[in-house]
Amino acid sequence: MPLLNRVSTCTRAIRSTGSSGVAKCSVSPVIRNYHVRPCGRVGSEPKSQSRAMSTSADSLVAFGQQHVTKGLGRLTEAVMTKGEGSYVTFEDGRRMLDFSSGIGVTNLGHCHPKVSKAAADQCMNIVHVQCSISFHGPYLRLIEKLLPIMPDPSLDSFFFWNSGSEAIEASLKMARQITGRQNIIAMQGGYHGRTFGAMAVTKSKTVYSEGSFPLMPGAFAIPFPYWHQLGLPINTSEEELVRLSLYQLELVLKQQTAPRDTAAIIVEPVLGEGGYVPAPASFLKGLRAVCDKHGILLIVDEVQSGFGRTGKYFNLEYSGVRPDILTIAKGLANGFPLSGVVSRKELTDKLVPGSMGGTYAGNAVSCAAAVAVANAFREEKVLDNVSARSSELLASLKSLRDDPDVGNMIVDIRGQGLMIAVEFASPLYPPSDPALVSSAPKNFASRVTKRCMEKGLLILTTSLYEVIRFIPPLNISQGDLQKGCQIFAESVKEVVREG
Ligand SMILES: Cc1ncc(COP(=O)(O)O)c(C=O)c1O
Repeated sequence: MPLLNRVSTCTRAIRSTGSSGVAKCSVSPVIRNYHVRPCGRVGSEPKSQSRAMSTSADSLVAFGQQHVTKGLGRLTEAVMTKGEGSYVTFEDGRRMLDFSSGIGVTNLGHCHPKVSKAAADQCMNIVHVQCSISFHGPYLRLIEKLLPIMPDPSLDSFFFWNSGSEAIEASLKMARQITGRQNIIAMQGGYHGRTFGAMAVTKSKTVYSEGSFPLMPGAFAIPFPYWHQLGLPINTSEEELVRLSLYQLELVLKQQTAPRDTAAIIVEPVLGEGGYVPAPASFLKGLRAVCDKHGILLIVDEVQSGFGRTGKYFNLEYSGVRPDILTIAKGLANGFPLSGVVSRKELTDKLVPGSMGGTYAGNAVSCAAAVAVANAFREEKVLDNVSARSSELLASLKSLRDDPDVGNMIVDIRGQGLMIAVEFASPLYPPSDPALVSSAPKNFASRVTKRCMEKGLLILTTSLYEVIRFIPPLNISQGDLQKGCQIFAESVKEVVREG
């Protein structure tokens, strides 16, 4: 029996007998040797829950800490065991409202019954159809579902892979092959993943590539039109931010990478890991115009902003800008590993057969799940829910900003749909930064997330700055959204009081 199965068996046995500690576990000698840490449980679970639950959970955590690579960061040292709709449960008994959605993945909530059933049914049919061997039904059915919702009708040629980073790699490779040019212009603040090409165009934090150079050569950057990226006051007009970013693009094309060497510009329509900043439509239109002028391809990365996250199937619908290549993932299959690169046949016909592919690319179970996601979106009117909940979320955050005790600590509320950010003031920003407030609590955002977790809400920070992101499930109920907003408001007030 695999070790962790044995561990679960052990845990169940401990729970059912009410035994304490793990020393009596007869099936997991490896786990047994880990020290039991003092019970550090938080949240609103009744104290009557057995101590045994915590100790067995603690030993699992200790096992993970010993054997899972340190290269992974973690929000919480805990073992998640179950997800149901908008809630997750941990081995130590905590049940939490999930406003992280696995970083924008479980858009229909955890284990949506129709999605899980579609995957289970597919498992009984065929699991693995290697994409270089033949087509498979779910792959083709998924394309049929996606064609009508693409943000531009020209997007009619699909390739499915597993992760967002892989989709980015494929998009960069396609852009180079199609144009015969090498260089890529990315956004300062952008995030595209942790593989070598994706790292090269990721400019949100050095942690993703630190110590790993040289990355893919030929990656240049211009600032995203976000006031922090340009070092400008927060009240700088959108027109000015866009003008300056596009001016930098003009300069990069004159000073660093000539148009005839530039294969593509890559952009997220909403900066994700860089701070949840929607790109103004005029910026995306400006990029499109430059691409058209110079024969450069526009790669739009909707890995995080796609599939209803911002209130439309794709964020590009707000600007009407046509991408040459669109990357998708995350909400596509609600947690099953699946990403996609979509372009137009006229372009992808230039690729050499066999140049794209991958053993697990476009897995049949993931594709079947994604078909179910597309059906559920329509049948359950998910976009209507996003619109209603988004208004409520924004109203709740704005009322917190109106609170005289904490309002001055909230410097920005932004976003679309259910991809919303709150940015706090910081005492650590450079002296020129307008969000510098010397009385603001240090590490504001991470302290708020910690406090939220203690109160039963899982929520994430994003970017270098003091930003908290709201990415609840898109089908979250009104009651659960309100509950999360209340916990958030209480947490902000407590952190401000503590200073
Ligand atoms: C916009 C964007 N692109 C690409 C990626 C990379 O996706 P993955 O983590 O699946 O490799 C992410 C992940 O957060 C993302 O947000």
